[in-house]
Amino acid sequence: MHDSSTLTIPQVGDIPRHVAIIMDGNGRWAKQRFMPRVAGHQRGVEALRDSVKACVELGVKYLTVFAFSSENWRRPADEVSFLMTLFLKMLEREISKLHQNNIRLRIIGDRSRFDDKLKQTMQEAESLTANNSALTLTIAANYGGRWDVMQAMQSLLKEKPHLAQTFTEADFQPYLTMNDAPEPDLFIRTGGEQRISNFMLWQLAYTELYFTDTLWPAFDRNELDKAIVSYQKRERRFGRTSEQLEGQPSPGR
Ligand code: IPE
Ligand code: IPE
Ligand code: MG
Repeated sequence: MHDSSTLTIPQVGDIPRHVAIIMDGNGRWAKQRFMPRVAGHQRGVEALRDSVKACVELGVKYLTVFAFSSENWRRPADEVSFLMTLFLKMLEREISKLHQNNIRLRIIGDRSRFDDKLKQTMQEAESLTANNSALTLTIAANYGGRWDVMQAMQSLLKEKPHLAQTFTEADFQPYLTMNDAPEPDLFIRTGGEQRISNFMLWQLAYTELYFTDTLWPAFDRNELDKAIVSYQKRERRFGRTSEQLEGQPSPGR
């Protein structure tokens, strides 16, 4: 388990340990090219592949991406079903390559609404890569930040009912889906919107936020480098003053 940024001050370096991305703008990317929205999702998978490769090269240890939100079920049925099929195909096609590259795959979110084949493939992909250590790639699918907090609360109360009145942040945190990772250092949202859209609500408490108009399918290595340069210019104070940070390792120093 990792420390909480609201309880202890995390170590920070020039390269973020954990990058979290809302991969937004696939539909608009396709529309600009007079293509169906789903063509944008297809290209989005390629952009993800490039970002995974870049993160390994840069030494980022955790990459967490929002692929499908609990709210995305509200989309037209054919788009939802295309996304499910794409997800399954992507897992089947990419998993051996991820494994060869020593990448651990994790999937977070409520799996109950996925069909059996997809559930089984997710499980197999996670087991196959469980001991890999170059990068942990976490895909958030049917994920919502509020769902995560709620399910953690329910599990904690079920397992430790005697803590109901007294539990602390440290008691609670192990039940969150991202309990194996440090909190994100850098959050990126592509596609121009400046909102969190129910992504990792708990974990983003002290994350540096970066928004770009670039649409996800066009987000390449150069765009990732720009986000990291922006991160490196930030002063991460975690509640302290600038003066207190003199001589401390921090991006931007
Ligand atoms: C993000 O792109 C991918 C998913 C939400 C699955 P969008 O599909 O939201 O693309 P825009 O925002 O409509 O352009
Ligand atoms: C957020 O994108 C979720 C994913 C990228 C998977 P949306 O495009 O669905 O977000 P909103 O609804 O515009 O905020
Ligand atoms: Mg969108």
